[in-house]
Amino acid sequence: MRKSFIAGNWKLNKQVSEAVETSKTIKEGTKNLSGVDICICPTFTVLKSVYEITKDSNISLGAQNLWYENQGAYTGEIGASSLLDVGCKYVIIGHSERRKYLNESDEIIAHKTLSALEAGLIPIVCIGETLEDRESDKAQKVIETQFSGACKNLPADKFSKIIIAYEPVWAIGTGKTATPEIAEGMHKFIRQLIENKYTKELAENCRILYGGSVTPANIESLMKEKDIDGALVGGASLAPESFIEIVKKSQNK
Ligand code: 13P
Repeated sequence: MRKSFIAGNWKLNKQVSEAVETSKTIKEGTKNLSGVDICICPTFTVLKSVYEITKDSNISLGAQNLWYENQGAYTGEIGASSLLDVGCKYVIIGHSERRKYLNESDEIIAHKTLSALEAGLIPIVCIGETLEDRESDKAQKVIETQFSGACKNLPADKFSKIIIAYEPVWAIGTGKTATPEIAEGMHKFIRQLIENKYTKELAENCRILYGGSVTPANIESLMKEKDIDGALVGGASLAPESFIEIVKKSQNK
């Protein structure tokens, strides 16, 4: 049985005071919910302040990135130990915005994923095709390459801890959510990739989130699909009311 999981990716938004206010509202609005795991992923500089609000709640904290070394001469980078130090449990890895703007390769994503797991963080590994990939019938091939790239160095016992987020690039921030059928088709395909590389049991147990223009209006139809276990929410996670509604509608799948 896979428990629902809703994560809010705040991206580059919210300074400390707003982040604290938003976290307080989310905490209040989700305090009696148990049928869903909840995570918020703010910017690095507000992690500690948000942790002070969420530490005694059912909300977990996640970062949006990490570097694959824990310490040393890596100017400007943040490693897994630093994230654990400020209360993180999760870390998003390989988001398409990082692949696009920071040239993150599958190789770097593989290093980051392993580093997070070795330190005790749970990676939320993002994979997703562009519109061009989809229109040229390469969506599955791209997903396969990104999946096998990210999991290249992962033995089964490590893979068992990770969460995968399928985020089609064409659906991110565009309002063009993938239809439940398109999303479910790709989630099923990803589960098959897991089974091929590892085992059926690991495939059945792995939580696969959908991301891309998720809102309170479309979350229920997505969550009805057998292989969609939750969502990685961008824009709609910034307003606490809509995030709370998404969380509530995702309980007890
Ligand atoms: P939107 O929900 O704004 O489309 O963003 C999705 C996303 O990128 C989450 O990581």
